[in-house]
Amino acid sequence: MSIIVTGGAGFIGSNFIHYLLEKNINEKVVCIDKLTYAGNLSSLKNCFENLNFSFYKEDIKNERGIQSIFDKEKPDIVVNFAAESHVDRSIENPSIFLETNILGTQVLLDASRKYGIKRFHQVSTDEVYGDLPIDRKDLLFTENNPIKASSPYSASKAGADLLVLAYYRTYGTPITISRCSNNYGPYHFPEKLIPLMIINALKGKQLPIYGDGLNVRDWLYVKEHCSAIDTIIRKGKVGEVYNIGGNSEKSNLEVVQAIIKYLNKGEILFVKDRAGHDRRYAINADKIKKELGWVPTISFETGIKNTIEWYLSNTDWWEKIISGEYKYYYAKHYPKEKK
Ligand code: NAD
Ligand code: DAU
Repeated sequence: MSIIVTGGAGFIGSNFIHYLLEKNINEKVVCIDKLTYAGNLSSLKNCFENLNFSFYKEDIKNERGIQSIFDKEKPDIVVNFAAESHVDRSIENPSIFLETNILGTQVLLDASRKYGIKRFHQVSTDEVYGDLPIDRKDLLFTENNPIKASSPYSASKAGADLLVLAYYRTYGTPITISRCSNNYGPYHFPEKLIPLMIINALKGKQLPIYGDGLNVRDWLYVKEHCSAIDTIIRKGKVGEVYNIGGNSEKSNLEVVQAIIKYLNKGEILFVKDRAGHDRRYAINADKIKKELGWVPTISFETGIKNTIEWYLSNTDWWEKIISGEYKYYYAKHYPKEKK
């Protein structure tokens, strides 16, 4: 058995590769990653010692490059994590999002058809459903909610989902799709809310919260997302979409306050709101529970503690990132924050 994991040098992809290799079930794990600003080989450091692991630096949009990897590795399963993933960057520059997230997915789907893979799994997001009001806790996203994306990022992910479903209907490509809520945990790039706040607090910088801080996300510890995807690729039904969620809705303010409390430091700064900012995401994950028996098991309290401890013990990993190209993005994006 051989599994191609695209975007495996990113946050969730690297956690997924560690998850697969730690299971030690003698499957080949092949990572394809372009190593954009978000890809980091040091997130996969120990994996290179494992004989079941191989790595290709390649762009998923490069048809010839992708086909030659498929030719050589003869994968049974493809799990597509590769994407431009940050909403704020998509607002500044949408085009790369459409190119990677939609056209890159098409290249992978074509290669998967050509090589007759057994399963193509698309890692999608709850953001394709748009958002929910914060005063209607009874409303949750189900797999039947209409697609109603708000940002160029979520529109590009929605486009990819539609394409994946079209390949199932038109060509019978054996696909599944998962739509997950916000992840957090080790190897999370510092531009995202939780690592940004941990690192800023540790560095004595202010903690920039957009708008009123009352926007709600449903947080899931990344290892749980990995186990859910692993369950879907082995037991999920071809052609189906599965929501994945953490049953852990928190406002941004609550998340940041939990970090400040644990570290006993950090000063909040309310800054200009994100354009088109989705108010609330909340997942109904009954389908994956009922059909595949998957449920989240790690509470936010445990997950956030593990995450903060990981950032405290892995300063080398993030110091290298924040002292590189990222510092220019940060200075441009957060001009008002006290240095
Ligand atoms: P990330 O930005 O940390 O990682 C993305 C990875 O993809 C990087 O390693 C990058 O180098 C690689 N990549 C980007 N463009 C590529 C290309 N053209 N060819 C090959 N590789 C390329 O993202 P993440 O947070 O790990 O998200 C992974 C996937 O999960 C994405 O598809 C995202 O939409 C989805 N998702 C993320 C979350 C979350 O909370 N982070 C939640 C639900 C779904
Ligand atoms: O819901 C799944 C999605 O979660 C994934 O599809 C995306 O790839 C992933 O990036 C994430 O999107 P969000 O926009 O929800 O995540 P982000 O960490 O950027 O922001 C979380 C919330 O925190 C959001 O309401 C915006 C807010 N925020 C974010 C940053 C970076 C702030 O208040 N301040 C900040 O500096």
